[in-house]
Amino acid sequence: MPERPTSLTAGGLSADDLAAALAPRSSPLTGKSLSVTGLRKSYGGTTVVDGVDMEIAAGEFVTFLGSSGSGKTTTLMMLAGFTEPDSGTVSVDGRDITGLNPGKRDFGFVFQQYLLFPHMTVEENVAFPLQLRGVSKAEIRRRVGETLQAAGLSKFAGRKPRELSGGQQQRVALCRVLVYRPPIVLMDEPLGALDKKLRDQMQTEIKTIQRELGLTVVYVTHDQEEALVLSDRIAIMKDGRIEQFDTPRGLFEHPRTPFVADFLGAANFLNGKVEEPAADGCTRVRLDTGGVLTAREHPCVPGQRVRAAVRPGKLRLVSAEEGCCTGTVETAVYVGSLTRISVRLDGAAPGTPPLRIETAVAPPRVGERVCVTAEREDVSVFDATDGG
Ligand SMILES: Nc1ncnc2c1ncn2[C@@H]1O[C@H](COP(=O)(O)OP(=O)(O)OP(=O)(O)O)[C@@H](O)[C@H]1O
Ligand SMILES: [Mg+2]
Repeated sequence: MPERPTSLTAGGLSADDLAAALAPRSSPLTGKSLSVTGLRKSYGGTTVVDGVDMEIAAGEFVTFLGSSGSGKTTTLMMLAGFTEPDSGTVSVDGRDITGLNPGKRDFGFVFQQYLLFPHMTVEENVAFPLQLRGVSKAEIRRRVGETLQAAGLSKFAGRKPRELSGGQQQRVALCRVLVYRPPIVLMDEPLGALDKKLRDQMQTEIKTIQRELGLTVVYVTHDQEEALVLSDRIAIMKDGRIEQFDTPRGLFEHPRTPFVADFLGAANFLNGKVEEPAADGCTRVRLDTGGVLTAREHPCVPGQRVRAAVRPGKLRLVSAEEGCCTGTVETAVYVGSLTRISVRLDGAAPGTPPLRIETAVAPPRVGERVCVTAEREDVSVFDATDGG
């Protein structure tokens, strides 16, 4: 079999082989479903997780994405049982496990610090969870050998963690979890310490293993791209709450809050007022700067003050057309495959940030007059008083 380009070890086996070696002989391994209701946690009077509800399907890859301090780790630690929630429940396949200690949950954990035992060899590290579970010596030898071979780590079996590279250590950490085939794996920024290239490779490895073993994974990161690459669904967290729990496409195309629109892809916000409804059912927003943006139908009433949100890549430069917004190009920076432009709209109030536009075709020059518009599918409309 040709070696996959993502394989971490020259001559080592791929993630597919690792997955195949770890899969049980008889029945296919599948993850379990996870249900969370009303999870809350406060520290010293400050609420850090504020009512998290989510249903995670068996075999799903779910990521908590949010800025520092938004409550991602605390939520994960409550799922794991390391942190006791003030209220709320955690269930696995419908069974309430809220009171169960971490050792009894049979979850796998992978954290940013590999937490390998420094005094143990690679082999001993990977064997450890099986020893805890009372697996026979012969079976431990067989499974550890198989796992290390599949991970391309056999030749490092006798080494201590400090004698391995970061990527190799991370691989050992992953083996140590997968060797006992936990139905649910929780990972907190497991790739945070790796450089970009290695991180990209490990993302592919993790995704392949998860998919082939059908594991349920709950993952924490503050790296947007990583979340998009790995996840079936992403929970965007802010101030201890889930702002939106959706597929990557759902989050991009139908952000439900201004925060989500801005967090993923830095939206432009334009203030305006909703016009009388037209026959096509679309929502039209007359902008304060002049011009009209047409959006899909949104639940708002004529006259309502709103903020329309459009991503930089979705604003289009057009030759003068009815309702378009006119302005002047302030900056134009070529960044490889596209040009980033900022446009000062005519009539923009002082202090309003210029529009950010990304275009791959015929970028205008600084000082040029332009007309800006957007397709209705690319315009989201929020009430003007919505925070974010
Ligand atoms: N044991 C603790 N005692 C007091 N406050 C805590 C404790 N653990 C977490 N916090 C606070 O709870 C908030 C959420 O922390 P948490 O670690 O869940 O954030 P996070 O989203 O994982 O952030 P990061 O991306 O920086 O890891 C933070 O303001 C943090 O200071
Ligand atoms: Mg954290």
